[in-house]
Amino acid sequence: MHNIAIYPGTFDPATNGHLDIIERAVPLFAQVIVAVTCDSSKPTLFSIQDRIQMIKDVTQNYSNVRVEEFSGLLVDYACKKEANVIIRGLRAVSDFEHEFQMASLNKRLNPKIETLFMMTHEDNFFLSSSAIKEIAALGGSLAGFVPNIIEERIKQRLSN
Ligand code: PNS
Repeated sequence: MHNIAIYPGTFDPATNGHLDIIERAVPLFAQVIVAVTCDSSKPTLFSIQDRIQMIKDVTQNYSNVRVEEFSGLLVDYACKKEANVIIRGLRAVSDFEHEFQMASLNKRLNPKIETLFMMTHEDNFFLSSSAIKEIAALGGSLAGFVPNIIEERIKQRLSN
């Protein structure tokens, strides 16, 4: 098994939904590269370094997971890493249109790279990084939504 998969995203911050996808991808690929974009069009709560560090902290037990920063075109980054698969998590119907567009554009840009969709676990269908940040900002508990270590970082960040 030589397939290298890229799991790209903003991860501001990573949620249990993202971690579930990473954990399920781990046995399927020789290497899973979690690629954190530093070109996000939206302002982020966490710096690129913090977003990367949080994912490293919660994936340290997986020897075939790497966490890296990327910028520019995703397919160019994937090519540089010799990856042939892009993984995306699909939550509900609402994700479909945007994901279909991205997968189609990436296919046009580089037909050798396949986008693979993984259905989010039903427990995480409702999770999003923006909802997590809103709940935290309004003083709600994030138990079951993000790992404890990430909940602590969010609280610290919001209290600064
Ligand atoms: O977590 P997100 O915000 O859904 O991640 C989106 C991301 C980073 C995967 C997407 O914006 C992306 O691939 N950016 C790189 C730029 C690119 O390659 N654009 C062309 C394909 S749409």
